[in-house]
Amino acid sequence: MTGSSLFDYLARQLTGLCDVAGSPSGEPLRLLGALLGPTGSRSLSDPPAWRSNVADDHTPVEFSIACNTGEPPTLRILGEALGSPPNAMSNHRAAHRFLRARTRRSGMSLSRLAAVQDLFATDRPSGEFTLWHSLVFRSGRRPEFKVYLNPEVTGVHRAPSLVAEALRRVGLNRAYRSIVDHAVRPGELGYRDRLTFFALDLHDGPHSRVKVYLTHQDAEVADVVRAARAVDGIDATEIAAFCTAAGGGRQHFDGLPLVSSYTFTGETDRPVGYSVYVPIRGYVRDDQEARDRVSPLLARYGFDDTLLDRAIAALTDRSLSEGVGLIAHVSLRLGPPRPGVTVYLSAEAYEVRPPGGRQLAVAPIRTNAPANRAAA
Ligand code: TRP
Repeated sequence: MTGSSLFDYLARQLTGLCDVAGSPSGEPLRLLGALLGPTGSRSLSDPPAWRSNVADDHTPVEFSIACNTGEPPTLRILGEALGSPPNAMSNHRAAHRFLRARTRRSGMSLSRLAAVQDLFATDRPSGEFTLWHSLVFRSGRRPEFKVYLNPEVTGVHRAPSLVAEALRRVGLNRAYRSIVDHAVRPGELGYRDRLTFFALDLHDGPHSRVKVYLTHQDAEVADVVRAARAVDGIDATEIAAFCTAAGGGRQHFDGLPLVSSYTFTGETDRPVGYSVYVPIRGYVRDDQEARDRVSPLLARYGFDDTLLDRAIAALTDRSLSEGVGLIAHVSLRLGPPRPGVTVYLSAEAYEVRPPGGRQLAVAPIRTNAPANRAAA
């Protein structure tokens, strides 16, 4: 890949994925360019300019394909906007520039973000990120945008009060209690159970969502089943079957953490949806094994299982047994607005992780990359 730029590499993958999802690639490519900024033209043979935690190898972008009951699959990009040069403050400014440019063009709404953003504002951000974007390309529609804010940005111990207040400001007064009562093991808030993302859809439609994510270190399948029981009308035992299948039979996820998210729509302060994210890359030898677990899972939920192979082919021509991490997570979504399964796929722009071994945490793997520093 020497000689090609970060943008060229990701643009080729994105074009292929748009083909697979049956959507035009023009707007997705423009948005990718806007997210990467001038850093997109950096050569791939240079180390990552920013140790983004979007993906293990620090590529600032991760793709996903969401299979939705009763709808065509949706291509999505999770990305971190990069400043020039990238650092915590320049990235934060780039993220807001990206949003402002989008609001001018596509009539999206920043009102809920405006209601909470001061809570997440600090000149000394701690943790992995301040704001990430999700770009959602539903077939035949304008792109939709979502933002992820970091509840731990002012410290892990501040995350609970920050999330409680953010939920209150968007009209979800009792939401925080129901989350913590179900998803946190006794005494583990801020320890093994952490509030890791607060996400908002940036439109005002009836399905516009607020989502809260928790990361469960060292969790049993039973812990996420209990978490799912916060939501009325869904079958929490589905969560057990899904985690067990994605984990190759295991009940205890003692390496990379399971993640929960709760979805709120409108102003009902009971969650309407629950998702579990299994970091499958931490529980397989290689991507062949991951593929062989995920493909039957898609079929079991009634989705086209050729989609995964086609998406993989759009990303890479390496053999699946040569590396691990291409299939990063697989998630099950229960409840409205859209139940379904999502597969998260790494771009691997900077590194293919060798097969085998056990990944215990999302640890730095490149030693020559610069350490991220807050802005001077
Ligand atoms: N790479 C990070 C992690 O694995 C963040 C992340 C990217 C993530 N995609 C995700 C977390 C999907 C949960 C689900 O934690």
